[in-house]
Amino acid sequence: MVKTKAVIPGSFDPITNGHIDIIERSSDRFDELHVCVLRNMKKSGTFTVEERIAMIKESVAHLPNVHVHSFGGLLVDFCDKIGATTIIRGLRAVSDFEYELRLTSMNKKLNSRVETLYMMSSTEYSFISSSVVKEVAQYDADISEFVPKHVEKALLAKFNQSNNE
Ligand code: PNS
Repeated sequence: MVKTKAVIPGSFDPITNGHIDIIERSSDRFDELHVCVLRNMKKSGTFTVEERIAMIKESVAHLPNVHVHSFGGLLVDFCDKIGATTIIRGLRAVSDFEYELRLTSMNKKLNSRVETLYMMSSTEYSFISSSVVKEVAQYDADISEFVPKHVEKALLAKFNQSNNE
């Protein structure tokens, strides 16, 4: 039997409760869900790719069909490599739309076999992004509502470390 496989790509720098919501809601719709962290040579993030993967793995440990990887190069090539024909992306607000339209249109041009499906963020997560969480975490704000406990600890450690440098 052919397995249904989908990919959730992103920077995940770091994973938030908004990402986890999309992963949980899509995981039972496919046999395998592959969460893929972009290895971006040009952009260095707050966390290394390995740190991000470790945080994602801990966040999805309760979902047995979810696998976590990193990828470099084109996303559609990665999809081909693992035999996935669906990309899942979360959509928070109208402001996400133009960026997502560009991504999806380019991916479709590059490989028409791969389809992108969008899932609306749950209302309580519609304003959360990794960058907004990092922005407020730098100033010691309470971020426990927005990220899992282990991510909160990692963020606080990261910002305490850079404040002491
Ligand atoms: O979480 P992000 O940063 O919005 O995710 C963006 C991501 C990783 C999905 C996108 O940058 C991507 O797929 N990059 C890989 C290169 C690629 O395939 N580009 C073609 C689409 S423009």
